[in-house]
Amino acid sequence: MLNLGILISGRGSNMEYILKAISKKKIPINPAIVISNKHDAKGLKVAQKLGVKIEVIENKECKSRVEYDKKIISVLSKHGVTQKNGLVCLAGFMRIISPEFVKKYKNRIINIHPALLPAFPGLHSQKQALEYGAKYSGCTVHFVDAGIDTGPVIIQAVVKVKEDDTEETLSKRILKEEHKIYPEAVNLFARRRIKVLGRKTIIS
Ligand code: GRF
Repeated sequence: MLNLGILISGRGSNMEYILKAISKKKIPINPAIVISNKHDAKGLKVAQKLGVKIEVIENKECKSRVEYDKKIISVLSKHGVTQKNGLVCLAGFMRIISPEFVKKYKNRIINIHPALLPAFPGLHSQKQALEYGAKYSGCTVHFVDAGIDTGPVIIQAVVKVKEDDTEETLSKRILKEEHKIYPEAVNLFARRRIKVLGRKTIIS
């Protein structure tokens, strides 16, 4: 069975949905470790309650991105989340990861983004969608490559934008879909049903 490492910075609701699906035996993966770059991330308590080990690596502990990521890699490896036997989920992890980290875990790091990529990458995607006047937005689970929100798409879910939506109401409806597609993507990966062919993924 693969080992899963989840990286968070805050609330951790996506992490929670993934961990709950695992504990209900819906996903065949071992939840090995949750790592946060913030000691007060709410998700840490949630992970502990669900019986998953946690570690904190504060941003200020390291001078550079590469040094920080080396630390993350050593913690992941210590818990069995390796290049050969691991999956890394970014779940609201508010750091850009280094190309070295991406290379080491090629096609083994996935992320959830609250928009239909390639639309509205980066921060505040729901606000970007509203300001653009998009009629539809949604969320995307994708592999992480060296760019920002640019890796191959695994699953997307569409959410209709309402005329009276605020950033808050739209974010809430998108989050509901995130909670469905992220565990689904982890499940597909755990069952080795995702193949990456260049920019495309093939789901079997
Ligand atoms: C989600 O909206 C996710 O798409 C984005 O950050 C937010 C994290 O929320 N990357 P949570 O910590 O999983 O509740």
